[in-house]
Amino acid sequence: MERELALELVRVTELSALAAAPWMGRGDKNSADGAATEAMRRMFDSITIQGTVVIGEGEMDEAPMLYIGEQVGNLQGPAVDVAVDPLEGTEIVAMGLNNAMSVLAIAPQGQLLHAPDMYMEKLAVGPALAGKLSIRDPIRTTVEKAALALNKPLSDLTVILLDRPRHAELVQDLRDAGVRIKFLSAGDVAGAMAPAFPETGIDLYVGSGGAPEGVLAAAALKCLGGEIQGRLMPEDQEQFDRCITMGISEPRRVLSMDDMVGTGDVIFTATGVTPGEFLGGVRYLPDQRAETHSVVMRVKTQTIRYIRSLHYLPNKALLRSAN
Ligand code: FBP
Repeated sequence: MERELALELVRVTELSALAAAPWMGRGDKNSADGAATEAMRRMFDSITIQGTVVIGEGEMDEAPMLYIGEQVGNLQGPAVDVAVDPLEGTEIVAMGLNNAMSVLAIAPQGQLLHAPDMYMEKLAVGPALAGKLSIRDPIRTTVEKAALALNKPLSDLTVILLDRPRHAELVQDLRDAGVRIKFLSAGDVAGAMAPAFPETGIDLYVGSGGAPEGVLAAAALKCLGGEIQGRLMPEDQEQFDRCITMGISEPRRVLSMDDMVGTGDVIFTATGVTPGEFLGGVRYLPDQRAETHSVVMRVKTQTIRYIRSLHYLPNKALLRSAN
């Protein structure tokens, strides 16, 4: 993949973030998601790739755009798998909360796991803990190993997870261990990435969230030198069979980062929609300008670029008004 591609791709998440932002705080997550999806889909037309969506807005019959199997790009560049979430954290935007982003990842064709839409148990860490923990361990062992490796007491360890009733037992175990907990209202791609950004003060991400979001986080963490391990959680026979249909022959086995994003090059970009742990949100400025904060990174070079852009909104013909 050409290195210029990384900078081209950030324009895609910038536009979808700009499209979602006017919906912040309007209580309408579907419109926010629709605006981001449409903008991202149209922006892809200018990108020199022959992309196939493997993680997107759903199956062809349930999503009008960016559905699984859709071809995107100007169909002239490298053949790549595309994973997108035009608006990661639809409810966050609707409610005006933190940590919503627009995200995408690409990898050479055949490299990205076709993750079914179900929950995945995840354990994500930054570079300091990469290769040192196992999702197979009980949570108490995991936090003890993490504290030891980081050379700090358990009481100084900070764990992030989604605030959900299904995590009640996990939360109790973490409380018993004495660690600090940061709860996410939603948006666990940002949550899983957070431990790889030291400024967040977050040491590990645990718990379950969406499986497609797990693959997006895996793409990011691979570029960041962190690690994520996952385990799909099919809830019934239908979900189990769906894994098999999507090519996952042992649905309950532990998935490594390589299982999720392959061993080749990967490019990941994210643009903040609302302020988050490591990215600012879209900010409206005087003179019809808006500021975006993005991160763009690539496995091959391990370069992490933060891009702050000042957009002149009248020139963004692809954006629709929220009113
Ligand atoms: P959406 O962007 O589709 O609203 O998903 C938000 C999200 O919080 C993800 O980040 C996360 O993986 C998933 O939902 C968790 O699902 P649930 O809300 O059912 O726990």
